[in-house]
Amino acid sequence: MQTTVRVLGTGGTIAGTASQGSAESVYKAGQLAVEELLKPLLPQLGTRIQSVQAVQVAQLDSRDMDHAVWQRLAAELQAGQENEQVVGQVVTHGTDTVEETAVFLQGVLRGAKPVVLTAAMRPATSPQADGPAHLIQALHLAADPAARGVWMVFGGRAWPAVQVRKVHPFALQAFSAGDGPAAATWGGGGWVWASDQAVGAAQGAQSTEPAGCVMPERCEDWPRVEIVHSHAGASGHALEALLRDGGGADDSAERCDQAALAPVVGVVISSTGNGSIHHSIHQALQNAVHAGRLKREQILVATRCTQGWVVGEPDHGWPVAARLTPAQARVALMLQLATAGR
Ligand code: SIN
Repeated sequence: MQTTVRVLGTGGTIAGTASQGSAESVYKAGQLAVEELLKPLLPQLGTRIQSVQAVQVAQLDSRDMDHAVWQRLAAELQAGQENEQVVGQVVTHGTDTVEETAVFLQGVLRGAKPVVLTAAMRPATSPQADGPAHLIQALHLAADPAARGVWMVFGGRAWPAVQVRKVHPFALQAFSAGDGPAAATWGGGGWVWASDQAVGAAQGAQSTEPAGCVMPERCEDWPRVEIVHSHAGASGHALEALLRDGGGADDSAERCDQAALAPVVGVVISSTGNGSIHHSIHQALQNAVHAGRLKREQILVATRCTQGWVVGEPDHGWPVAARLTPAQARVALMLQLATAGR
């Protein structure tokens, strides 16, 4: 049987181009087709991967990622999961929101074949482009029987994708898994797994995130979850205003923009430290629960710290998204609420 790896393109810097002589930071993301990114790499793939199939799902800067693209991407990936010839799949993505896409895919995809997200910090036209190496590494991981679930490959390291967060706006090693080590490191032209325990722990980490979630068919109907930041000088007013916002018709409805459409049914608090939140936001949450506007299960607290995660149980008592960033927690809560509401 053929071993086919599918590569789904969504845009990002990995598919970006810069005009000649422009500064390193001046370029346009999402310009080159995924087929063009793959073409020069195919002769380097060796015999393990017999065929590569390119699918262009979107072509955008991932700051503009939206629910409609997620829906298309998940449908394409699910088709690959169910195709016997496909051993694994790669998604090329922008770095800015890849950690959110990871949580979404981990939640909705069925099947154990690896789905490997990858990205780049330099555009494809840069003489020192990092994308080609990442793409080769991602292809190899997608064909590796030891990998199951959703992975992220970046800078010669591989992690369960939900553990990863972008921690630097321009450094080449822009990703970290909090305090967690990489499960595999690229060396000698292949992946070297950290240890059997590391692989087991990595697979275990995948299973702690929401899975088997089924979203409403129309993405306009996905639960609207917003993020409120806790910070010095914060007040509960931002939260109260969001909860008063009853949504309403908007041109963006057709684009599945969740903002300004539906009433808010979930709130993530981006907390200041180990789950700590400003007393005024805590009070606004309590008021909302007492008034019947929110239930406890519609609230999730995540830390804004760039490393580590919330440990123990913060004394405010609200549910905590221990290992997820606030942006990831928004996706996790949306998935949970959609699934609970079915
Ligand atoms: C993007 O997220 O699409 C642009 C930035 C990047 O890929 O590094």
